[in-house]
Amino acid sequence: MDAVHVTKPFLPPLKEFIIYLEKLWETGIFTHNGPLLNQFEQELQNYLNIENVVCVSNGTIAIQLAIKALALHGEIITTPFTFIATADAILWEKCKPVFVDIDPETLNISTEEIEKNITENTVAILAVHVFGNPCDVKKIHEISQKYNLRVIYDGAHAMGVRIDGKTLFSYGDISTVSFHATKLLQTFEGGAVITESGEIARKLKRLRFFGYEGRDIVDEGFNGKMTEVSAAMGLVNLKYLDEVISRRKKLYEIYQMTLCPIKKITLQKINPKSFNYSYFPVIFEREQDLLKVEHRLKESNIHPRRYFYPSLNTLDFFPIKTYTPNSERIAKNILCLPLYDSLPEETVQMIANLIVDVI
Ligand SMILES: Cc1ncc(COP(=O)(O)O)c(C=O)c1O
Repeated sequence: MDAVHVTKPFLPPLKEFIIYLEKLWETGIFTHNGPLLNQFEQELQNYLNIENVVCVSNGTIAIQLAIKALALHGEIITTPFTFIATADAILWEKCKPVFVDIDPETLNISTEEIEKNITENTVAILAVHVFGNPCDVKKIHEISQKYNLRVIYDGAHAMGVRIDGKTLFSYGDISTVSFHATKLLQTFEGGAVITESGEIARKLKRLRFFGYEGRDIVDEGFNGKMTEVSAAMGLVNLKYLDEVISRRKKLYEIYQMTLCPIKKITLQKINPKSFNYSYFPVIFEREQDLLKVEHRLKESNIHPRRYFYPSLNTLDFFPIKTYTPNSERIAKNILCLPLYDSLPEETVQMIANLIVDVI
């Protein structure tokens, strides 16, 4: 059997991409606020029904730009159950990540733990919509108002998710998203910073272009620009986004039907009305079970991924040490199963059956 990896990029019809490449050859503009970038930003704004989408070179730079745009200096409360990029972005912006524990059911940052860990040095909350599952945005908003904190959402996984019909990216001061090759909406590499504030959006646009406003350098910026070829890929793929989500939903439900009744397995608690089916994580009771399953799948050339692993608070180079038992336990016991639009339904059923056999 051909290798089945945890994920695979969505490939649109090549012909549609070539039409955009021809435009690129006509304009000769490859980067820096080009026409395709402007069109992609406009179409994203329409799709999300939000005022300001600022596209950038990747989802990590998007978080750094968000921190810079809000001029944060100090401690930022975040989750240890995330990809390393979230916390690295905080360090690169010379702030200190304070890891607080997660809710073991939703896998998102626990709002009680946020509140317990606020100190006079706290300047912001950087929460992650883990695997596209929305954080408790209303409670986080209340906390931010009570303690006068800024809120950034790392929505790397959360493209297309809505709450009560409104894009999830409209919560907080700023949301970020990743358009990495393996994400729901991919632009090879890429990302965006999204905000309802026109003023923040203008600053973000300056910061991604070396701090320039017209011909004047007015901010300490850097290079965060998205290329025209990435914007072209985004324009083609945006048309397929809803289709990709419904295809993944179908596959997700096959896993769910087979694995949900298994006592030694827990699934992430989700609300199907606010979800994009971007990952299928399985939490085992013990790490030994995970290792047995991983081994058995690898024998069949199936490659799930331990994601997120390890819990980031266990890494030495983060300056503030905290104890986060839920995150540490779940990071050891969680495995993301293969899930992507072109994965055949029979393969998903076969993977689920193999897991049931091993467990
Ligand atoms: C939660 C989270 N945040 C940030 C990123 C970084 O995104 P990018 O790879 O586009 O830099 C990722 C990437 O997978 C992620 O999973």
